[in-house]
Amino acid sequence: MSFSNEIKRRRTFAIVSHPDAGKTTLTEKLLLFGGAIHVAGAVKSNKIKRGATSDFMEIERQRGISVSTSVMSFEYKGAKINILDTPGHEDFAEDTYRTLTAVDSVIVVIDAAKGVESQTLRLMQVCRMRKTPVIVFINKMDRESKDPFDLLDEIENRLSINVLPLSWPIGSGKDFKGVYNLYNQTLNIFSGQDKQRAEEPLKISGDSQELTNYIGEKATTKLISDLEFLKEIYPPFQAEEYLHGTISPVFFGSALYNFGVKELLETFIHIAPSPRSIIAQEREVNPFETKFTGFVFKIHANLDPNHRNRIAFVKVCSGKFERNTNYLHVRQNKWMKFSNPTSFLAAKKEIIDEAYPGDIVGLYDAGNFKIGDTLTEGEILNFKGLPSFSPEIFRFIENANPLKSKQLHKGIEQLMDEGVAQLFISTFNGRKIVGVVGHLQLEVIEYRLLHEYGAQCRWEPVPFYKAVWFVSENHEQLADFKRRKERQLAKDKWGRDVFLPESAYELDMAKEKFNEIRFYFTSEF
Ligand code: G4P
Repeated sequence: MSFSNEIKRRRTFAIVSHPDAGKTTLTEKLLLFGGAIHVAGAVKSNKIKRGATSDFMEIERQRGISVSTSVMSFEYKGAKINILDTPGHEDFAEDTYRTLTAVDSVIVVIDAAKGVESQTLRLMQVCRMRKTPVIVFINKMDRESKDPFDLLDEIENRLSINVLPLSWPIGSGKDFKGVYNLYNQTLNIFSGQDKQRAEEPLKISGDSQELTNYIGEKATTKLISDLEFLKEIYPPFQAEEYLHGTISPVFFGSALYNFGVKELLETFIHIAPSPRSIIAQEREVNPFETKFTGFVFKIHANLDPNHRNRIAFVKVCSGKFERNTNYLHVRQNKWMKFSNPTSFLAAKKEIIDEAYPGDIVGLYDAGNFKIGDTLTEGEILNFKGLPSFSPEIFRFIENANPLKSKQLHKGIEQLMDEGVAQLFISTFNGRKIVGVVGHLQLEVIEYRLLHEYGAQCRWEPVPFYKAVWFVSENHEQLADFKRRKERQLAKDKWGRDVFLPESAYELDMAKEKFNEIRFYFTSEF
């Protein structure tokens, strides 16, 4: 197959959802279609069940499992599909954000009874920022659900996206009869009998008598009136609008019963984007360029506690990646060769000889990589679009064992490279401030420092509310701001200025007073 066809047939995406909406179940059903697994239950849930054991012990256990589900690749009808797993636990939001920087599109799973939940809100902010094309799958229609019109309204209003249903549910819960495919006008009847196999849709004329035969009179009347209403409010589907991230097609179904999943998959491979151009600081990189470029978006550490080995996940952005070839590690200005690059199939890893744009390659790493690092054939390139987002919880990290300060220093540095948390150094007194999204991350850091580095840390409270990156062309105002807020300034890992306000009020006051300084909750703007 030609190089360009290899790129065009690739679909690299993530499934995102609030925990429990059905991401794992849907992923598994997609893998069943691709023949990557043969029975449901083969994909271990990557989520952490609260309460079972101490949470961070559970995370340790899950970390072993999650590497095999980090990237799941399979072939379906000529398409090469790469699903990037996003950690399901809300305390891992930062990691999830970064995975979204490596995908070309996203499927959002929403629980039909619960509607839009907090985690989905946060993840969609990142998709909107990056204009990622999004498909919505409204799941669990076999349970009592919210009214579908209300759900669509809720999604539009709370996620700030424009939706367009491509399928329409007939009832829900015990009255769930199936979905009507608005795109090719077929009826898919729900039997609720089989959780593995997908049922074939019926081709029907849309004639009310025929519909009645299948779903009864009451449901037919309701469906016909719904369809008329839908026609009035929604314009015909245009793939271009979806690709630009302005319209999100919506499907209804039940992942558990493998219902509506096949339609989702087939529409997905048809309309979802193949790898797109990526912006680097220096220029835009087109996937069809012949020279290889790629960036590290995730690091998975400590697969074996006896050796401090890690896997760096590299997204191929352009050209062909080849085994045993020298590539430039741009940040370190060092040529490197990889003899065991791995690709990922569900549940098994394989050494690969080559990979194309859209693919994810796993590189064994002894500590050379940081999130955001770029590999090229010699060009100096730095990919953008790997922003840090403001953490929500801050602590001073202190050494609790003076004999192990070197170990603590090294441990902190490596964990931060991995992206476990963000480190800020106070410019006032040089103290280290760790910022995380959830409390659990603090426990994980403490645990890993002790078990992997033999170091002990102590947390001290700091009252900061957010990390706010700031810039200004008005040097005088900037200098005045820095003087007045000197106790609350820090540098991030790139050496950029960060303001750490204690409250939303303090930030608002600063914005008002220093009106020529621009403040941002992300490190890229
Ligand atoms: P997540 O990855 O988004 O966290 O969700 P996951 O797929 O693990 O699903 C969460 C729960 O919801 C699971 O039940 C799963 O079986 C159920 N579920 C997923 N899709 C559907 C659906 O379409 N209909 C119904 N009725 N349930 C669905 P659980 O009891 O928490 O876990 P398990 O013991 O079944 O694994």
